[in-house]
Amino acid sequence: MTASLAREVGRRRTFAIISHPDAGKTTLTEKLLLYGGAIREAGSVKARRAARHATSDWLEMEQERGISITASVLHFEYEGFRINLLDTPGHQDFSEDTYRALTAADSAIMLLDNRKGVEAQTLKLFSVCRKRRLPIFTFVNKCDRVGEDPLGLLDDVQAELGISCFVSTWPVRKDGQLVGVWDRVQERVWLYDRTDDHGQSRPEAHCVGIDDRRVADVLGPDGVARLRDEIELIDVAGTAPDYDAVLRGEATPVCFGSALTNFGVDVFLERFLGLAPAPTPRESLDGPVDPVTAPFSGFVFKVQANMDPRHRDRVAFLRVCSGEFSEGEEAIVSRTGKTIRLAQPQEFLARERGHTESTAVAGDVVGLLDRGSMRVGDSIAVGRAVEYPGVPRFSPEHFAQIRLEDALRRKHLDRGLRHLAEEGTILLLFAPSITGPVPIVGAVGTLQFDVLLDRLTREYGVTARLERLPFHCARWVTGPDAAIDKVANAYGRRRVEDADGASLILFDNEWTLQRSVEQEKDLVFHDVQPRKTAARPTSGP
Ligand code: G4P
Repeated sequence: MTASLAREVGRRRTFAIISHPDAGKTTLTEKLLLYGGAIREAGSVKARRAARHATSDWLEMEQERGISITASVLHFEYEGFRINLLDTPGHQDFSEDTYRALTAADSAIMLLDNRKGVEAQTLKLFSVCRKRRLPIFTFVNKCDRVGEDPLGLLDDVQAELGISCFVSTWPVRKDGQLVGVWDRVQERVWLYDRTDDHGQSRPEAHCVGIDDRRVADVLGPDGVARLRDEIELIDVAGTAPDYDAVLRGEATPVCFGSALTNFGVDVFLERFLGLAPAPTPRESLDGPVDPVTAPFSGFVFKVQANMDPRHRDRVAFLRVCSGEFSEGEEAIVSRTGKTIRLAQPQEFLARERGHTESTAVAGDVVGLLDRGSMRVGDSIAVGRAVEYPGVPRFSPEHFAQIRLEDALRRKHLDRGLRHLAEEGTILLLFAPSITGPVPIVGAVGTLQFDVLLDRLTREYGVTARLERLPFHCARWVTGPDAAIDKVANAYGRRRVEDADGASLILFDNEWTLQRSVEQEKDLVFHDVQPRKTAARPTSGP
């Protein structure tokens, strides 16, 4: 049993793609699905997105806007590996969802545009990977177009991200056109036949030695000599490969290619799958939990309600950290200490939803139908309470008071706000007032407000409007109550509570916040919600 479980866990590769919008994440994802046999022809995801049925577009609003708002999970088989690709929303207002998806990943693919290098969103997401020491595999995309000089680009990445970069594959060009890649590991050239279907199908690849006649045929004698010079330059001027450093998150192998034309995608995939780690022991508050020998455990990194209007339901996405999912077993939710019975998991690929047929083991993500017992960040385990840290709630930067058009819909509003806050769509706060607590909503990006109003109307029948409040940052505060009040009563601040009763102070700007942090030595200011569980005393963030 353990041997087969170890084998199953060992073939899991659970990862996310981090990139700036437009770098080609959708295109690359599609190629992974194409190569894995999950779709027959590339272009279908995009075509379906255009037809308002994209792979991860569940909500009508995101379909209308053509952006992917919710993080979803794609899984498929590829050459013996079981791939779990955590899709991450590209829009920056939803970076919190992306951060959470990264907590569920064992590695990340960093996708760069060869003309732009590191962009703002990549930088933000990279810093989250860095904190978690996630192994990162870099793919420099769009090399079918001439971009920055590859070694110069690597220097920029090293300087901007502080991660050591070494070449794994190198673009091979003929008269400025990408014809293949040099594989530094195998010391061979991959040449691709051009297809005339705009990259919809996988091109024929020829992996040959540099002395092979085909290389000379394509590049000509001058081209071969130039490639030899470049290879020498990579070895002399470039960084030497260090795979242990990759696993520690300190170095990244870099592959060049084009997701659109598929050139270099196959070698990148092979390299990535060969090096990316299978699930390893995960830190819990009581020490590391082994993915194979420990009983079933996991944590919820995402909750989504009303995914399908035909089934009014809530699904908690659980990253399995150890053991095997077994339907009907009892598991403990660490935050509440309550026991739940594990129901049959749901499987997702696009909108078509079905029950999972294969078993879910460490590394997989299961979607569990939930009636409100699970929240983002909850750890769930069979046999004992286990608690995994690391699904942070980020401090919002936009705040609004919510005004109801029809006072009789108050109960619906409260229910909608509670559900959407549990999903992490918004942060729900309450300001004390003589008529009772007034709900205030906080968001990391303003698009979250649009989603909130839209979903309140569509899913809860509530028409509401938002009155923006003049605050731009917030901190959870712990310390003596009187000291919290003293700070909160000063100009440009307000004291509120979150749904768990934890105190926050809203500030009109970063400067006011910094002054309070410097002056109020009795208080501790937290930029993520301080941990508080049923079983344990409060500790720092
Ligand atoms: P995203 O999910 O990261 O936002 O990017 P997406 O894949 O949607 O790609 C953004 C644009 O970049 C698309 O062009 C796509 O075709 C193009 N692209 C992706 N990979 C490559 C590549 O390897 N080479 C080149 N030259 N372009 C690439 P678009 O014009 O916005 O959309 P479309 O009309 O092509 O669908």
